[in-house]
Amino acid sequence: MKAKIIGTGSYLPKKRLTNHDLEKMVDTSDEWIVTRTGIKERRIAEDEFTSSMAVKAAKNAINDAGLTVDEIDFIIVSTLTPDYIFPSTACLVQNELGCKNAAGIDIQAACTGFLYGLSLANSLVKSGAHKNILLIASEKLSSIVDYEDRSTCVLFGDGASAVVVSALNKDGLSVESVCLGADGEQAELLILPGGGCREPASIKTVQEKKHFIQMAGNEVFKHAVRRMESASKECLNMLGLSEEDVSWLVPHQANKRIIDAIAKRFDLPPGRIFETVHKYGNTSASSVGIALDELMKEHAVKDDENILLTAFGSGFTWGASLLRYEGEVK
Ligand code: ACO
Repeated sequence: MKAKIIGTGSYLPKKRLTNHDLEKMVDTSDEWIVTRTGIKERRIAEDEFTSSMAVKAAKNAINDAGLTVDEIDFIIVSTLTPDYIFPSTACLVQNELGCKNAAGIDIQAACTGFLYGLSLANSLVKSGAHKNILLIASEKLSSIVDYEDRSTCVLFGDGASAVVVSALNKDGLSVESVCLGADGEQAELLILPGGGCREPASIKTVQEKKHFIQMAGNEVFKHAVRRMESASKECLNMLGLSEEDVSWLVPHQANKRIIDAIAKRFDLPPGRIFETVHKYGNTSASSVGIALDELMKEHAVKDDENILLTAFGSGFTWGASLLRYEGEVK
């Protein structure tokens, strides 16, 4: 049995935080941010949460798939900014959408969260355990960003993406391969140290700013390029494919320089690399799904075209997936 993405959706909050806005908040410049990251603006959720953005993206994906909420039988929410530590954001989303026939869980693999979720959904569908899985990645990163730290606050934004991964015979993106990896030895290079059981929230953890993202940007950069390249190549090798077979590359949208470095190693023309980083910044788990949804809406992806997704994040975690467009078999 094959699993197919039969619907995609995304949601971005309305409020834009531009580089010029950030110039008024920290010692930075539009020129520095654009040159080092390619980011011009990012979206900020004001009176919204990870769950409410997730619901909006999910409605778009379910509509796109031509399904009703009753047909969804499992919900995966990938996020590192859940509404609560418990209950899961998946349960909040299940209730809000009215998916009364669905079970649900949250998963956490930072910026690789969409691909970890895709791997899980793919396996659950292929095993016959579930038929229509709603995979959502949603992040309110503005809730864990220190807007006094110029080295991180310019990078991140809020947003959500969703796909329906299904056993149904419909037009869609067949999941041909997924490759994942992890290296916990590097955990401290990109971390939010406070609020877990090692350092529960206290006046001290708040004073020491331990509830914000801490990142060794340079180190992360090098690992990100190397791991996304190797995972992507592994994914292609598994299928006996090469770079020339890739119609679209949809990488994690962390930094334009990282995207360009991967593109160079793949020798792909710029028009075949889909980018949203300039307008949304790094939306962590959501980023690959948002870019995939925009690619599907903006371009007429044709039969047998191959889309290569790849991502890298805290953990470290990384992964890649090869999707192939296939029409409904009549
Ligand atoms: N404006 C102006 N100057 C700045 C800013 C800023 N916003 N931020 C840092 N600087 C300064 C630094 O202080 C440093 O100054 P110094 O030389 O006087 O010490 C200088 O700019 C260079 O800093 P670097 O950190 O070396 O800059 P770099 O070119 O590495 O860019 C960046 C930093 C953009 C963070 C980059 O390293 C990066 O993108 N890293 C990867 C991020 C990533 O991929 N994350 C993925 C996963 S995210 C997740 O899982 C949640």
